[in-house]
Amino acid sequence: MRTFVLRARAAPTDSAKLLAGIGGEAHPEILAHVLMNAIFVAQSHREDVTVYLVLESTPDYSRTVRFEPRAMHELGGFDERALLGKVAKALDTSRGMGKEEERPVEPGVTVRTVSFERLVQQLSADHQLFVLDRKGVPIGEQAFGANPCFLLTDHIPMPRKTFGSLERLGATKLSLGPRMLFASQCVVLIHHALDQR
Ligand SMILES: C[S@@+](CC[C@H](N)C(=O)[O-])C[C@H]1O[C@@H](n2cnc3c(N)ncnc32)[C@H](O)[C@@H]1O
Repeated sequence: MRTFVLRARAAPTDSAKLLAGIGGEAHPEILAHVLMNAIFVAQSHREDVTVYLVLESTPDYSRTVRFEPRAMHELGGFDERALLGKVAKALDTSRGMGKEEERPVEPGVTVRTVSFERLVQQLSADHQLFVLDRKGVPIGEQAFGANPCFLLTDHIPMPRKTFGSLERLGATKLSLGPRMLFASQCVVLIHHALDQR
């Protein structure tokens, strides 16, 4: 199983703001691009993937939306409107939730009021954690177990102190080369590298 966690630091947890923000400073389109490249292939989708989107621009709690394509009945389109529509539906479902609650949104999609740090701590129990960083181990030199989990951000960098906490959880910094790429481009390169093995 391949797991991707996108820490979307600028993404609003208000669905109307999320949808209105496309092309603006929050760049919610990044969420759609990551979902598209993590889940879809031509005329099909990947079954062995789980994607977590953690939206952090919030007046109360981060919203973590989990997508499990193997359990989804309705994948819908892969355009930005369709994909962000699914995220918006999850945000609407999460209205009024208290801290660390979970609600089903539709088959294969759930929303939780859980922070990035807490989520990653939980995933560390049964996943091999990798935080994407240009100065990390080149992906070609890294061995992967059965459950790698890749941690990415939107256009806002991971806070410096987070790297320390991730290191304590056993995360390895993983590099895809010297060029700064979009998170969605990292996802494609990771899939490609794992598909070769
Ligand atoms: C657009 S980048 C983030 C840019 C942000 N301004 C920064 O300095 O981190 C989005 C994500 O892709 C990762 N990333 C981009 N290029 C990479 C590379 N060549 N190797 C590994 N990770 C990369 C970043 O670490 C980040 O998680």
